[in-house]
Amino acid sequence: MALPPLTPLDPNAHATFGFPLNWGIQDPEKFYKLIQEMLPLLAPGYYLGDNLLTWQRNLSLFHDKPFVQAWETNIQNNADRVIAWRRFVLACAGYHCVQLDGDFVECGAFAGSGMKTVMDYLGGKAFPKRFYGYDTFDYHPVAEHAQAGQDETLYPRVVKRFEGYDQVTLVKGLIPESFKTACPDKIAYLHIDLNSATYEVACLEHLFDKVVPSGLIVLDDYEWSYPYQDQKIAEDKWFEARKYRVMPLPTGQGLVIKR
Ligand SMILES: C[S@@+](CC[C@H](N)C(=O)[O-])C[C@H]1O[C@@H](n2cnc3c(N)ncnc32)[C@H](O)[C@@H]1O
Repeated sequence: MALPPLTPLDPNAHATFGFPLNWGIQDPEKFYKLIQEMLPLLAPGYYLGDNLLTWQRNLSLFHDKPFVQAWETNIQNNADRVIAWRRFVLACAGYHCVQLDGDFVECGAFAGSGMKTVMDYLGGKAFPKRFYGYDTFDYHPVAEHAQAGQDETLYPRVVKRFEGYDQVTLVKGLIPESFKTACPDKIAYLHIDLNSATYEVACLEHLFDKVVPSGLIVLDDYEWSYPYQDQKIAEDKWFEARKYRVMPLPTGQGLVIKR
């Protein structure tokens, strides 16, 4: 298969990224005013957004041309834009997993932007694996987490979005019952993004043993504190019992490498 070519880093081309979407800020007007004062004090290479502020970084994601193309063309809302670094973690995980035995799975597909970014990074319509996307689509089963545009029009929109992507299997229904509808035997890439400790642990119960050795599991909200901390607490307990430790990433995601 054709993997996306590496764009060599140009040490003179500094990337920066700032998008004013962050959560948990009490006085946004004051915050962004102070940020504007602070940014000129920083060495080049800052990323600000998605509750991430870092500087003097290579920002490899913005130097990776196939990634930038895949990310930008799949932006449907401000959240898709600001979580660029989270998307790059998925793209890099996909790069590794596409070379393993097994399929790709996303639990919590919503509009399909995460799935499609990874597929477009790795060949688009020529993506060489089956990619299962699970979601209720019509509604969010976790109270107070409904996504904008999540109603009965979502599923047909996602089906249309993946027209020509014959490798995609969208499984509509409540996890974990929906695993009975369709579920791969072997999984190389597992992205879990349900905003719920109970449902995410249910995914692990059903899918973890199917993940092949050296397959990757990305837990989207693992390292976020309020209101997601119960996910980390439940998932740590689950993994500890199996002698795994989740790597917390600065993006707020958690990463597990299957043995
Ligand atoms: C944050 S959104 C996912 C965003 C998506 N991963 C992306 O990259 O754009 C969470 C999704 O999980 C779905 N969800 C939560 N619990 C679920 C369950 N038990 N069964 C099916 N879908 C569920 C919701 O309907 C919602 O669409």
